[in-house]
Amino acid sequence: MATTSFAINFFILSIISLISLPCLSASSHSPFLLPIKKDYSTNLFYTTLAIGTPSKSFNLAIDLAGENLWYDCDKNYNSSSYSPITCDSKSCPKDANGCVGCNGAFKPGCTNNTCGATTINQLAKFIFGGGYGEDIIVISQMKVHGLISACIEAEGFTSGSPLEGLPRNTKGILGLSRSQLALPNQLALENKVQPKFSICLPSSNKLGYTNLMVESIDGSVSKFVQTTPLIINPVSTGAVSVKGVPSKEYFIDVKSVKIDGNVLNIKPSQLSIDKKGNGGTKISTMSPFTELQSSVYKPFVRDFVKKALDIKMKRVASVAPFEACFDSRTIKKSVTGFVVPTIDLVLQGGVQWRIHGANSMVMAKENVACLAFVDGGTEPRMSFVKASIVIGGYQLVDNLLVFDLDSSKLSFSSSLLLHNASCSHL
Ligand SMILES: *[C@@H]1O[C@H](CO)[C@@H](O)[C@H](O)[C@H]1NC(C)=O
Ligand SMILES: *[C@@H]1O[C@H](CO)[C@@H](O)[C@H](O)[C@H]1NC(C)=O
Ligand SMILES: *[C@@H]1O[C@H](CO)[C@@H](O)[C@H](O)[C@H]1NC(C)=O
Repeated sequence: MATTSFAINFFILSIISLISLPCLSASSHSPFLLPIKKDYSTNLFYTTLAIGTPSKSFNLAIDLAGENLWYDCDKNYNSSSYSPITCDSKSCPKDANGCVGCNGAFKPGCTNNTCGATTINQLAKFIFGGGYGEDIIVISQMKVHGLISACIEAEGFTSGSPLEGLPRNTKGILGLSRSQLALPNQLALENKVQPKFSICLPSSNKLGYTNLMVESIDGSVSKFVQTTPLIINPVSTGAVSVKGVPSKEYFIDVKSVKIDGNVLNIKPSQLSIDKKGNGGTKISTMSPFTELQSSVYKPFVRDFVKKALDIKMKRVASVAPFEACFDSRTIKKSVTGFVVPTIDLVLQGGVQWRIHGANSMVMAKENVACLAFVDGGTEPRMSFVKASIVIGGYQLVDNLLVFDLDSSKLSFSSSLLLHNASCSHL
């Protein structure tokens, strides 16, 4: 079983390297390229990499807000190249989750005097602890030594599972946040380059990719990429709030929202980050659809529907969790999906992130296309603060994003479909 999935996954890895390397030319260093697939039932995205000796392949959900790479090292997993990070090690972060030990026989996930890791899954009801360790990780068929990840025995918990809500075939999370333990930062440090990575989420059935170490954006793509500052929320937004520690999530400064060119009538304060860290716009691959806080969602839907009716889209009954749904037979189509009122996120400096039909409308059932945004409510989830806008996975599909952590900038392409490209075909 393990051998088969290993072989299949490597097949995928080699295909994506063949297809993508020549076109991407993203880095003169060996690019750390991982394939990304979409999971149908959760609408989340995952990648595949191999860890340990003998190396075992893991599917891991992609979490842009995730602080580390954690995986389920189940009862039978015993990698001989695993070495725990001791509590007094320099590699053990200062905000580590204590020092952990174990009563069983030594194996990954059961070691003494080990630097404690918090393995967070925003979709689970609890926060789970594990230990940090070092092991060989295979990325783009290259063995990378010395990367720190957290291993956790998922079945070892009496209440809840750390895997709750994740795609069924995944066994952990690949975190890509600003955290020092997220792989882009670890790889940059090890290779003495600036931390910079790209992510391009695929539409259904296709393969996208994330390149964990990008040097520069490929020539043909760079022509239509725009740049906006990544801003830092000074208040910790994670499940574990540490006073005085800024958020490790990615925020951008959305100043206003336009629908078909008309600015949504909301106060700027409804979009900005307040003293307590509430508000702002963050990007999250763990939210399948963009969530707007209720006070933003209501006028947003109202204005969209008005514009949609103007172009003779026929409104039909809502299909939860979506509110604004239309008879898809009354909507025209183009290369960028359904022809519907365009949505623009107006960013700092007037740069606009345009959202076309392919990213704004979802087929909720036969002949019914819905505005693919959801009411994010007013209460925070798995955190102490709440963003105004959480840009979710559906809106990111076929948009190339490049996160430059050193200069704190996000480059984004908007829909690649406009340029006869996609995340599966640049
Ligand atoms: C795991 O392997 C190590 C040797 O690499 C061995 O000492 C240990 O007992 C094994 N643990 C289990 C639980 O099989
Ligand atoms: C951890 O230490 C305890 C107490 O010294 C010992 O019983 C146990 O076997 C150790 N576990 C491992 C994994 O080394
Ligand atoms: C789009 O790309 C495909 C191949 O990827 C090509 O066959 C087609 O001619 C291109 N269309 C345009 C309008 O450039």
